[in-house]
Amino acid sequence: MTNFDTVNYFTDPSLVPDPHPYFDHLRDKCPVSREPHYGVYAVTGYEETAEVLRNSDAFSSCISVGGPFPPLPFEADSDDIGDLIEQYRTQLPMHEHMVTMDPPQHTYARSVLNRLLTPVRLKENEQFMWRLVDRQLDEFLAKGRCEFVSEYAKPFSLMVIADLLGVPEEEHEELRTVLGADRPGTKVGSLDHEPMATNPLEWLDEKFSAYISDRRCEPRDDVLTALALAKYPDGSTPEVIDVVRSATFLFGAGQETTAKLLAASLRILGDNPELQQTLRADRGRLPMFIEEVLRMDAPVKSGFRLARKSTTIGDVDIPAGSTVMVCPGAANRDPQRFENPHEFRLDRQNFREHMAFGRGVHSCPGGPLARVEGRVSLERILDRMLDITIDTAAHGPADDRRYTYEPTYILRGLTELHIEFSPGT
Ligand code: HEM
Repeated sequence: MTNFDTVNYFTDPSLVPDPHPYFDHLRDKCPVSREPHYGVYAVTGYEETAEVLRNSDAFSSCISVGGPFPPLPFEADSDDIGDLIEQYRTQLPMHEHMVTMDPPQHTYARSVLNRLLTPVRLKENEQFMWRLVDRQLDEFLAKGRCEFVSEYAKPFSLMVIADLLGVPEEEHEELRTVLGADRPGTKVGSLDHEPMATNPLEWLDEKFSAYISDRRCEPRDDVLTALALAKYPDGSTPEVIDVVRSATFLFGAGQETTAKLLAASLRILGDNPELQQTLRADRGRLPMFIEEVLRMDAPVKSGFRLARKSTTIGDVDIPAGSTVMVCPGAANRDPQRFENPHEFRLDRQNFREHMAFGRGVHSCPGGPLARVEGRVSLERILDRMLDITIDTAAHGPADDRRYTYEPTYILRGLTELHIEFSPGT
């Protein structure tokens, strides 16, 4: 039996299959409690999580991905370490990506994305999804079984982002081979703490640099040209590499997270035949189903902030320089906000209040896209995969399932999901 007062959240694999008893334990002690190994303030309450995420003045995102790893290259020496953060920022992992930036640089980086995520582009992207979903299902449907993560969820979410970015369709296969289903899960937040590459997306940068430079010389009527010609809010032109990073980061931020949402959805459907019937009969309930999956199985279970200024959250004093871990996965199951939080319920009144996409200036710009990916996939899966069941040879009988989750302290997602079904048309 794990002792939750002494367990090391950042290394102990016993918390991976189900982190919620641990999150509940922390929240019961105090919604803002200090873990003993790295002195990280773990925020597990709903209100407290929202408070941290909304306060980008007191809480910097500069360590949002690595948290306490690697240790800070400086010692906090006052109640406001804003200058120190700026001095050492480029030594922190993934400093070149918007997720670790603070305003005003963050506002600039995000403005490039706004050029891409327009209603028109999202509509075109959805049309692509409807074509893609059938193509993807055709690859394995006749078998009546599949390993859903590698055969559907990962390649589908990868191709959606490739299309969103306007990668020419003739290059999709190459991208799928290099970045696709067989690629191991991210090292971000890995429990084995292998040194994280400063920029795991580096090799993609080269490919996109070529696209953007090419479109700046010879504009075409395509998405990459719109990105290449995007200006900052003050009218200045971003460096090619800055446009490239806004684009390539989407593969890191948007692929694995959405793949995890899709896999969690299928696991829940496979374990609940009556839910499949309900959704087949009433497709209008699919959006609620997706929100409830996001609440119960938030693909990002935790993220980090560095206290720039000494401040308080709830009743707890947080000195400048403290590492704060916000846990959307835990906030989503705070009984103060969600009644019977560990129960999957299609009829929750406040189902939209979950925090799976974060809050504040960094809240996920891909949320609407991920929701559409979920809806389009589930519509066609319910049409074409009848009587979906979990493969008992791989995952055990209904009363004793064995699911394995990626061993990370940041993300929550199945490593594989074997399902069986009757092929529809
Ligand atoms: C179910 C799927 C997804 C989940 C659960 C999710 C979750 C999140 C969360 C919690 C954050 C906030 C991080 C922070 O505050 O430090 C975030 C940021 C981000 N997400 Fe998502 N995401 C998903 C899908 C996507 C997709 C499909 C895209 C792109 C097309 C995307 C692009 C981004 C980007 C670019 C950021 C950084 C935003 C910023 O720093 O301003 N995400 N995501």
